[in-house]
Amino acid sequence: MSVYKDVKKITTHVLQGMKLRGEKIAMLTAYDYSTAKIIDSTKIDVILVGDSASNVMAGHSSTLPITLDEMILYASSVVRAVERALVVVDMPFGTYQGNSIKALDAAIRIMKETGASAVKLEGGLEIKDSVKRILSAGIPVMGHLGLTPQSIHKFGTYALRAKDDDEAKKLIEDAYILEETGCFGIILEKIPAKLAKQVSQNLKIPTIGIGAGAGTDGQVLVINDMLGITQEFSPRFLRRYHNLTVEITKAVKNYIKDVKTLDFPNGKEQY
Ligand code: KIV
Repeated sequence: MSVYKDVKKITTHVLQGMKLRGEKIAMLTAYDYSTAKIIDSTKIDVILVGDSASNVMAGHSSTLPITLDEMILYASSVVRAVERALVVVDMPFGTYQGNSIKALDAAIRIMKETGASAVKLEGGLEIKDSVKRILSAGIPVMGHLGLTPQSIHKFGTYALRAKDDDEAKKLIEDAYILEETGCFGIILEKIPAKLAKQVSQNLKIPTIGIGAGAGTDGQVLVINDMLGITQEFSPRFLRRYHNLTVEITKAVKNYIKDVKTLDFPNGKEQY
């Protein structure tokens, strides 16, 4: 059982303590108040307001279109629901890649307007200046390496990353750069389990994996995927804990039937 179960508020320091003690970190995404309230009540460690909202909430085919204003709306809704978990917010595509001053402006908007505790950026050496400047304002930063969905047009596919030696070497170098620059943790997405374990063992900061095997310091899944709300996305790494599509379909069909047959509302369900 967790030695941190009675902790009132998860901070980046608590996550560091979990890594030192070998306690795995559990992280899920959330994008709205009601879902975040349920997830937070389970004592999840970290809630990520991911830019996967672009796919699962807004129906885009990639994470690129989501805007800073949209991320702020999702994130502020989540933060209003959360008492215990650390809330991390993805910085959307285009807000940090070009210019570190603009990156800081965007990160400050996220922190001020949502009340979240940290931001997450995709990439390594290429975004070091932005990471550094955001950190200089006292904003905790989480890194994200491996499959970085904001670079989908460069990769051309959502397949496994860092399979070859050159890409694995760059990923290891980037992980050290992010740690040395001051990130409090790194997401490792869809890379070989052996590489993820090696990186996790060599870093002092925690790594959180998604499709990166059991050797990372924690795991993250997209809530809509693990609950079976999304159906079309079925990578090998995804464990579905429920099939809400079936449950919701059943409930809605029952409702339609009850309305059509005049069963709903009944005498007790009116004033
Ligand atoms: O946007 C997101 O949900 C993410 C996770 C998949 C790590 O970045």
